[in-house]
Amino acid sequence: MDTYLAVASKRDRRRYADRPIPDDVVTRILDAGRLAGSAVNRQPWTFVVVDNPELKGRLAEAVYAGDNVRGAALAIAIATKDGGSGLDVGRAMQNMLLVAWNDGVVSCPNGMPDAAAAARVLGLEDGLLPVNIPSFGYPARPLTPEDRSAEEWSTEANRKPLEEVVRRPRAGTQ
Ligand SMILES: Cc1cc2nc3c(=O)[nH]c(=O)nc-3n(C[C@H](O)[C@H](O)[C@H](O)COP(=O)(O)O)c2cc1C
Repeated sequence: MDTYLAVASKRDRRRYADRPIPDDVVTRILDAGRLAGSAVNRQPWTFVVVDNPELKGRLAEAVYAGDNVRGAALAIAIATKDGGSGLDVGRAMQNMLLVAWNDGVVSCPNGMPDAAAAARVLGLEDGLLPVNIPSFGYPARPLTPEDRSAEEWSTEANRKPLEEVVRRPRAGTQ
């Protein structure tokens, strides 16, 4: 998929088909996270894959929107020391979401009210705390990014217009 089309058509989806994600696709998603650049190349993350139904159910109780995780084929907690390195985590997560989408897998980030409680569910130790726990699955309703152009996806996106978020200061302006 063209990268601009992938970015423009990537919406966060919260309803998933009841079918597993094949191992090779899961490996690509994880590798996309691994490949993300990070400050001083520290790679501060641990990726915790949760596809076991019982564990998924317990994890669902620990995130804001439990149904996202409950109905997903899997969730991947991205954990760091003390829950820090948010920018690095964001890069790894967005890589994962886009590479998943390239394979037709939709996703949604998930925040949580109590990262320590989620860490206990995930069996994390040594101060590792999840920063976000994106959920993944095939879409409940078929979705084809190629049905529209990147420009059409961009126009339809629920986003502020460029004019509102972009500034172009010129030398000499106050
Ligand atoms: C850091 C972060 C945390 C988020 N947490 C949640 C969440 O807890 N539950 C949820 O349903 N969506 C969550 N989202 C998804 C946002 O609601 C979503 O990115 C935004 O509404 C844009 O959605 P769209 O791309 O489908 O238009 C989160 C997104 C980010 C970046």
